[in-house]
Amino acid sequence: MARIYAVGVGPGDPELLTRKAERILRQADVILAPVSRSGEVSVALETSREFLDAGRQQIIIHQFPMTSDMGRLIPAWQEAAALMAGHADAGREVAFITIGDPLLYSTFIYLLRIFRTSYPHLEIEIVPGISSINTAAAAAGVALAEADERLAIIPATAGMDAIIEAVAKFETVVLLKVKPLYADILEMLRQMGRQQSTLFVERVGSDRQKVLSDLSEMAAHKPDYLSLMIVKKR
Ligand SMILES: C[S@@+](CC[C@H](N)C(=O)[O-])C[C@H]1O[C@@H](n2cnc3c(N)ncnc32)[C@H](O)[C@@H]1O
Repeated sequence: MARIYAVGVGPGDPELLTRKAERILRQADVILAPVSRSGEVSVALETSREFLDAGRQQIIIHQFPMTSDMGRLIPAWQEAAALMAGHADAGREVAFITIGDPLLYSTFIYLLRIFRTSYPHLEIEIVPGISSINTAAAAAGVALAEADERLAIIPATAGMDAIIEAVAKFETVVLLKVKPLYADILEMLRQMGRQQSTLFVERVGSDRQKVLSDLSEMAAHKPDYLSLMIVKKR
């Protein structure tokens, strides 16, 4: 029986994909790349492209809708897990590729739970990836945490109350998935006096990378889904 791999491919720059990830991508028989809409370009697949051999490997693009509707999500997870388990049981090595790290807000976390409960015989190996957070901090040249500082990671989907609480409490707050609440977050940053200590980072690691430190420039910008903010106390 072959293994299932979850491979973190980093933020979008093939040079930020680890040597281990490259080796596994080259040797896998089946690659499963997630997208949220049909026809969408998979950033994970584009990042991995140069390490893959479309002539030898089977590349599957699987749709996981971007919704909180469990009635749509659970079947998509179960279908992907069954597909991957079927290939592994047939002796094929399967790699699920994911942007950044597979255990940080990735669809793979849900698949892992299904593998553990419904396919406990399968061997799973998780290959960590460089997350968008580390890459954004490097691109902006800002420390995530030093000495006794505390760092919080908040998906903006947690809501404004959770964001405000974290910004008030932690020395550094990384806000992920900022797009839907972008205007509210900018207003909150003004009210909490974080105009001089916030960075906006979009599409880090790609040729569309954008780093903004000026709140009025941020306000004039329409953010992409792949964008985050680093909010410092000082
Ligand atoms: C579902 S989470 C995935 C996080 C990913 N597993 C990681 O380790 O970076 C998606 C969110 O991560 C952030 N993100 C992912 N890739 C990014 C990139 N290249 N540039 C900026 N933010 C990114 C954005 O906040 C996006 O909404």
